[in-house]
Amino acid sequence: MGDVTVGIVGLGNVGSGALAILAENAAQISVKLGFGLRVVAVCSRTVQTKTLPAALGSVLRTADWREVVTHPEVQIVAELVGGTAVAREILDTAIANGKSVVTANKELMASCGHEIWDRAIQAGINLAMEASVCGGIPIHAVLREGISGDRVTALYGILNGTSNYILTEMEKRSEPLAAVLSEAQALGYAEADPSADIDGFDARSKLAILAALAFGEKITPADIFVEGIRRISPMDFQYAHTLQHTIRLVGAARQTSDGLILSVRPALIPQSTILAGVQGAYNAVWVKGVYGEDTFYYGRGAGPRPTGVAVVSDLMRVAREIRSGSPERVSPFAHERLGEYRPVPVTVQKRAYYLRFRVDDRPGIIAKLAGILASKNISLESVLQEPCDTKHDLPFVITVEPTSEQSIRDAVEEMSRLDFLREPPLALPMETSL
Ligand SMILES: NC(=O)c1ccc[n+]([C@@H]2O[C@H](COP(=O)([O-])OP(=O)(O)OC[C@H]3O[C@@H](n4cnc5c(N)ncnc54)[C@H](OP(=O)(O)O)[C@@H]3O)[C@@H](O)[C@H]2O)c1
Repeated sequence: MGDVTVGIVGLGNVGSGALAILAENAAQISVKLGFGLRVVAVCSRTVQTKTLPAALGSVLRTADWREVVTHPEVQIVAELVGGTAVAREILDTAIANGKSVVTANKELMASCGHEIWDRAIQAGINLAMEASVCGGIPIHAVLREGISGDRVTALYGILNGTSNYILTEMEKRSEPLAAVLSEAQALGYAEADPSADIDGFDARSKLAILAALAFGEKITPADIFVEGIRRISPMDFQYAHTLQHTIRLVGAARQTSDGLILSVRPALIPQSTILAGVQGAYNAVWVKGVYGEDTFYYGRGAGPRPTGVAVVSDLMRVAREIRSGSPERVSPFAHERLGEYRPVPVTVQKRAYYLRFRVDDRPGIIAKLAGILASKNISLESVLQEPCDTKHDLPFVITVEPTSEQSIRDAVEEMSRLDFLREPPLALPMETSL
């Protein structure tokens, strides 16, 4: 049987990883498929400077992606460029030319995946996007196939390896975020502009895709409340530990009687929970279903080889579909709004909260803060204070019993106007039931 042919656009981290696996693992891949996967064209802006694996043989090299997506021999295009502008053009042109597509692009699929998928179905081609979320964890296959018979009630994830690396290093070494971040940048673990990672936007795109797959809703990034990790400090880990908790950037999508509550934010999670064991740059997704109950998926969230495996496995899946003549008929984004999974604002959620203060100490501070909490019907649970050298920048923590996010926001806003505060209070939800 003849080979299925592939064109790769983008030879950066993911493209080079995928290419290396296609070359090194070609024999196994063709045994598993019953036919070969052959790369016939590759593209990057600086393609002439790239060294391609010798085992690939003769391949068209070009800096113009159009030459790949219109190449008569290419059956599947892998878009591994990233961003939303050129990537969108690449996907649209590939689909218009009848090519099947594999993409690792979370940003694009989170913002307009449903439109792209609709176009792919109309064109009768196949589309796959496993590498777009959690690199090496095959979470799309899990949600679309593995546990698709279940009815998902909640999904929690550690979806950004860089921020998880930073938080777990801060926790281990009691170092401030800025120091760990610059070290991560020097080692190449974090981008020069770290905003997408530490402000939660990367995790938000991933959660939008996962929630769409898990709940069959058209979820967009705008439906998800996002807050990054910039305000977390070593003292927060100290207080969290006193409470037998730790702090992680958690992506959460939960069905409630009000609707679906979606957020990416730092949260206190019990030290005993399986999510707390996810250290360094690892990712994890925890899915809760009505019938199958808990399932947990763990692995490397990024990197050329783990993400390369996801791309190559998608290429294999699409190649099988091309051979068996069965393109996708139903988009994972195409469900009608089901009502019960309608996204609702995070302000309706009820949680216990951790409130951390830094104050210029004077008598009556706790009474003042407690008064504001009482005026919003919030019950105080505990007050914690670790020893501190100065009274002018004194940290302490108040935890409160479950209350609505709206009440906490109102209280924090009022507290922020108090003249003894060195900075606005830090409010983190406590995911005590995890
Ligand atoms: N990095 C990861 O571990 C990871 C994990 C999961 C998903 N992803 C996703 O995978 C995608 C690629 O990420 P990456 O880390 O591999 O990015 P990257 O290292 O920046 O590589 C991007 C590649 O695209 C090429 N490119 C950019 N604009 C182009 C254009 N107009 N025409 C032709 N080629 C162009 C670049 O060419 P030059 O090399 O010539 O500059 C480069 O080879 C993104 O969507 C990302 O979100 C990445």
